[in-house]
Amino acid sequence: MKVLILGAGGREHALAWKLRQSPRVRSVFCAPGNGGIGEVATCVPIKLTEIERLVRFAEDEGIGLTVVGPDDALAAGVVDRFTEAGLRIFGPKQAAARLESSKVFAKEFMQRHGIPNARSGHFTDSAAARVFAAAMPLPVVLKADGLALGKGVIIAQSRGEVEQAISQIMDERKFGDAGKAIVIEEFLEGPECSIHALVDGSSYLLFPSAQDHKRALDNDEGLNTGGMGTYSPVPHLTPALEAQVKTEVMDRFVAGLRADGLEYKGMLFPGLMLTKDGVKVLEFNCRFGDPETQVLLSRLDSDLLDLLDATLDGTLALQTPRWKPGSAVCVIAASGGYPEAYESGKVITGLEKAAEHAVVFHAGTRLDGDTLKTSGGRVLGLTATGADLQEARAKAYAAADAVHFERVFFRRDIGAKGLAS
Ligand code: AMP
Ligand code: GLY
Repeated sequence: MKVLILGAGGREHALAWKLRQSPRVRSVFCAPGNGGIGEVATCVPIKLTEIERLVRFAEDEGIGLTVVGPDDALAAGVVDRFTEAGLRIFGPKQAAARLESSKVFAKEFMQRHGIPNARSGHFTDSAAARVFAAAMPLPVVLKADGLALGKGVIIAQSRGEVEQAISQIMDERKFGDAGKAIVIEEFLEGPECSIHALVDGSSYLLFPSAQDHKRALDNDEGLNTGGMGTYSPVPHLTPALEAQVKTEVMDRFVAGLRADGLEYKGMLFPGLMLTKDGVKVLEFNCRFGDPETQVLLSRLDSDLLDLLDATLDGTLALQTPRWKPGSAVCVIAASGGYPEAYESGKVITGLEKAAEHAVVFHAGTRLDGDTLKTSGGRVLGLTATGADLQEARAKAYAAADAVHFERVFFRRDIGAKGLAS
């Protein structure tokens, strides 16, 4: 079978790398891809906004399965368009992808179906938002309704910050139309953890747990980023909490889809807070996480294509994938300045040495002739497996220490929370 992956990041590199290992996959294409995905796939220079060109490419090339990486492609309806054209594609349609692209829609879904979440209100009128927020204890969490590159959530520590957040999101439209509506919710405390589950419409299959590190700097300091590194599994997610995730989140999610008539065939990746009152859902993502995918697929022993096929065929209940015991760690090497302004075009060296310790998944890289250069904020994901978390960390960091480009930086504490617990 020929497979097409849509996207350009480390997640897509990991998907291509894993699908390439399937005996049933003849070739892998990736649109648009990046400077490293070419090692395992053929990069196709079509942007994800050019949906009609993607459909034509898939038809002309005889693509048997397309896998969607990023949320904005799902929100733009790429799955609907491929399906109309009779093409097989992995991911929810636009109507169900609103669970990620509208936080108001997600909150209403959770409330309707009894999925535990933070107490909240949502508003399209900033005056009403101010009245509601004034009655909430500090800190207050304020979220732009729409997609905002992971930056639309503000945790306000003072009344002044609450006021500023409402002004920025709703009045100044700092995140554009994403700020047409706002969700205001209580601040929850506890370790964060993410779950990935394939959902075929009537059942689901849980992947092992993973934990991202969203802040740019060690000890969770600095600005929020797309994610600076992950490890799996997460010891905080005890078997008791996992059972709660199944009964209170996943069972109710699937029942809710049915009750609301939403078709969902794809990955669901809820962000969870493990509070003292149990598991609460912070958000739904309707896709694979980045960089969660890098650690999860490194641990998957079974054929990913079998799992994706079963999702689309509605036969997930028959699948029992095998996972490597031990742990996996992914350390992101980023461009100095990220997530704010950074320079691109820096020459990357040391990858052969890094590959002795870890798998090097590329994100913001591009080939300039034969020279590999940086082209984004998150540049590489050094991903290693080990018999335990300590070994996986040691290998991922040996790889991170081996790569070089001007102003490279990475967090030193990826996975440390897992060791401390
Ligand atoms: P979200 O995009 O909704 O996952 O929010 C981004 C980040 O903001 C999360 O990963 C949390 O670290 C934080 N966050 C979101 N909602 C809350 C909440 N209700 N309480 C505390 N932290 C939150
Ligand atoms: N790593 C967080 C995300 O993919 O949304």
